[in-house]
Amino acid sequence: MDRFIIDGPCQIKGSFEVSGAKNEALKLIPLAFCLKSPLKIFNVPDIADIRSQLKIAGDLGAMVEFAANTVSIDATGVERWQITSHAAKKLRASIVYLGPLLARFGQVRCPHPGGCVIGARSIDTHTQAFRDLGIKIEETCDEIYLSFEDVSKLAAEIRLREQSVSATENVLLFLSAIGKKTKVTNCAIEPEIMGLVEALNRAGAKITSSEERSFEVIGSSDLKLEEVKVMADRIEAGTYLIALVASGAQGEVRNFPAETLTGLVDILKDSGANIQVSGDVAKVTSSAELMPFSIETAPYPGFATDLQSPMALIAMRAKGTSTIIENMFENRLEYLKQMQKMGLEVNLISPKKAEITGPCQLKATKVHSLDLRSGITLLLAAALADGTSTLLEAQNIDRGYEKIEEKLQSVGIKIKRVKDD
Ligand code: EPU
Repeated sequence: MDRFIIDGPCQIKGSFEVSGAKNEALKLIPLAFCLKSPLKIFNVPDIADIRSQLKIAGDLGAMVEFAANTVSIDATGVERWQITSHAAKKLRASIVYLGPLLARFGQVRCPHPGGCVIGARSIDTHTQAFRDLGIKIEETCDEIYLSFEDVSKLAAEIRLREQSVSATENVLLFLSAIGKKTKVTNCAIEPEIMGLVEALNRAGAKITSSEERSFEVIGSSDLKLEEVKVMADRIEAGTYLIALVASGAQGEVRNFPAETLTGLVDILKDSGANIQVSGDVAKVTSSAELMPFSIETAPYPGFATDLQSPMALIAMRAKGTSTIIENMFENRLEYLKQMQKMGLEVNLISPKKAEITGPCQLKATKVHSLDLRSGITLLLAAALADGTSTLLEAQNIDRGYEKIEEKLQSVGIKIKRVKDD
């Protein structure tokens, strides 16, 4: 595992450039397995999770190339329906191969997915949805096998147990690739899902939404799509916007997906941040004093759980007590114990609720990155802290943030990577 060494406090200044959205690109790769044509995907971030998802595609027999943020994938000749790739254990999004392979082969076998250690994250919403459709499921603690024989016998309507992002995507991919009409209710509606829906519609599926959080899908076994472009990553964009505000700096975030981040911008402005959004650029000018805030995570359009930890940086600067409630994942406030080691005044009221009192100047120390979103938060905290910090398990950050050292160095953060054997 590598380490990052960060010399703080850094004067952050300049322009952040946002990459393509990890959580959309990760689902557009399995989409290729629904198609009767090769697919080119543009604006794909070069990050470890994408490399793992592409490894699974290659191990299944697809022809895959990845260069200059463009993936070329031809899965038309794939004959394998069993995922045996070790890469599948590395990331949660490997579960989204289930729908495409099941639609194509009538059966699929895959290991239980891996991913960040942020909570139990069962795949019950996925299995329950497929079971409700009439799919036969055999599950052991290591793997899961799904099969069906007759499309016409599958259910015409199902309701998801939770508004799960990847379960919604898995089911939409499956239903789009079988020749049948089905309604799905209680869906998640994150922007990345809407990106996938748009791609599926362009490929020849007919997905409409006549009620809130529901999709009617008319699938086709003859989907074709030549090209698709990944949207800008709203979590990366939001994280860099928060970094600028928390550092009291002047700077901008380019490729800023403004329409998906209005909630965050409003909360930051209410706290006293000076932010001007114009087109796809968000400009921050320094603010005198920040005020405390309260946030509570929820499925979109609620406050994104993936932006919850960076908000601790705002709480650190704000004068007074801010409240953070994490409703989605049970272990996603653990990073606050690491920030406490840096001197943050935190009251962890429960595993889901914390109060942070600021303003506070953090001190450098050695911290564990824990997972992707905690990792970037602690990295940015280290950039604002007095002294030289060590951030362990750098690979957690490599999973989701493209060219992290390059991007942070370009805005004045003194960061270097130390490779450990
Ligand atoms: N949940 C609820 N209520 C709901 C919906 C979900 O409590 O109505 C809980 C679930 O029980 C679970 C958590 O929220 O503990 C997330 O559930 P979901 O199934 O939606 O998550 P996912 O599909 O596995 C994706 C992203 C995550 C992101 C979540 C939530 C990908 C590959 N992953 O995960 O991204 O946090 O949606 O938005 O798309 C990340 O990028 O760091 C990351 C973890």
